This record gives sequence, C-alpha cells and structure tokens, in this order.
Amino acid sequence: MGTTKETPHIKPNGVEIAETVLLPGDPLRAKFIAETFLDNYECFNEVRGMLGYTGTYKGKKISVMGTGMGAPSMGIYSWELINVFGVKNLIRIGTCGAMQENIELYDVILGMGSATDSNFGDQFNLPGQFPLTASFELLEKAKKVADEKGQKVHIGNILSSDVFYHADPTYIKKWQDMGILSVEMESVSLYWNAIQAGVNALCILTVSDHLITGEQTTTEERQTAFTKMMEIALELA
Ligand code: ADE
Repeated sequence: MGTTKETPHIKPNGVEIAETVLLPGDPLRAKFIAETFLDNYECFNEVRGMLGYTGTYKGKKISVMGTGMGAPSMGIYSWELINVFGVKNLIRIGTCGAMQENIELYDVILGMGSATDSNFGDQFNLPGQFPLTASFELLEKAKKVADEKGQKVHIGNILSSDVFYHADPTYIKKWQDMGILSVEMESVSLYWNAIQAGVNALCILTVSDHLITGEQTTTEERQTAFTKMMEIALELA
C-alpha cells in the first residue's frame, strides 16, 4: 500500500517509502543506485530534484533518497522520513575527508560517534553534552557484513562540520588530535533526529579526499570505490 501522506519536501504520489532508506547526499546518486541495484523501483520524490526511489533488493523492500549537503538539509529530509513516513532505519552512504594517517583513499568508515561544530542539537535544550552515536544494531550488522565480505572498515568517531572550506588551518588538527577518523557534514542532524525519535541511523562513508596527504579522487574513481560501501549498505535492508 502506497502512502497518501506528503510534506513540503517529499510528495510520494502514492508510492510507498520503505522502513529502510539509504541516503546519499547527491540525488543523482540515488537514481544511479535505484537503476543499478534495485528491482521494480519506482520514483517517490522529485520535489526540488531531491530524487527518491523505492524498490527491492534480494526481495526486500528498500528506498534510496538524496539528502543534499549539510546538516540543515539532512535535518529536513531525515525528520520528514522518520516522523511523517515512519522510516525506521536511515543509512547515510556518503563521502568524507580522511583525518588519520592509517586511513587511505577509498577506505570505508563506519561512523560510530559523531563529534560536531554544528548547533543543531541546541534545540533540545539539554542541561549538558549528549553523545551522538549510531545505532548499535546497524553498526554491528554493517561490521558483520563487511567481515563476511572480507572488506576492511574503520570504526570510530567522525566529525560533522558545518564548514567545508575552513579559514583556520589549525582547526582540523584539533579534531585529529582527538582521534577523529574523518570529516563529513551530515551525520549530526541525522543522528540527532534518529536518537530523538528512537529509530536507527548509521553513516557508512567512503574516503574521497585526504586531509593529511592532500590526495583526492576523481569522479570516475569514486564510482568504483562507492560500490564497496553499497555492498554493505544494501545488506542492511
Ligand atoms: N566530504 C568529503 N570530503 C569532505 C571534506 N573534506 N570535508 C567535509 N565533507 C567532506
């Protein structure tokens, strides 16, 4: 049964949204994933070009939708998916910049915890700090799938930053010294929204650039590397 609900940003026109949704930043990547990995897929969102699709993978229903870049954009889409469409498992599949020497381009990182410079969590008015963590259930499953496939993954804290181009050259070093594995820009609002609603979220990230060596990947190279991450994410449906 398709949904009759809609929000200002998601209008599924009767197409169902699955309980598990994969969330790439780039909506065209969502399209690519649906076309490449899903059977019987249907588009459930085109509002603002933020494409979303529902299909099946190995017979199980799964959706995939773009989130855009940054905490506010991820905050909007994840909130609506959770609180209006009843999504229970939100898996971000994105790229990140490596911040430790033992991490290489194309490595896969599971974001166990998210440190942040964002003030997204201020709205909850908690009388102290709150640890933003991934769902243990999803994290454990993802690690198991990676082990079964013989894929190396790094597991630890990531940084969700509101800034891509940092003016202060010492900024990243401070987080590196705290053992942060890599930087991206969306885990903060994803983890906050999931934690508040009591649903599951996890960030699975591919290293697209290296903040110590300055190495970067090309678009074509990213496409191949991305498959490793996808193989883990799709098995979580
Ligand atoms: N996503 C991929 N690389 C990144 C970087 N260097 N900083 C923030 N987000 C990223």
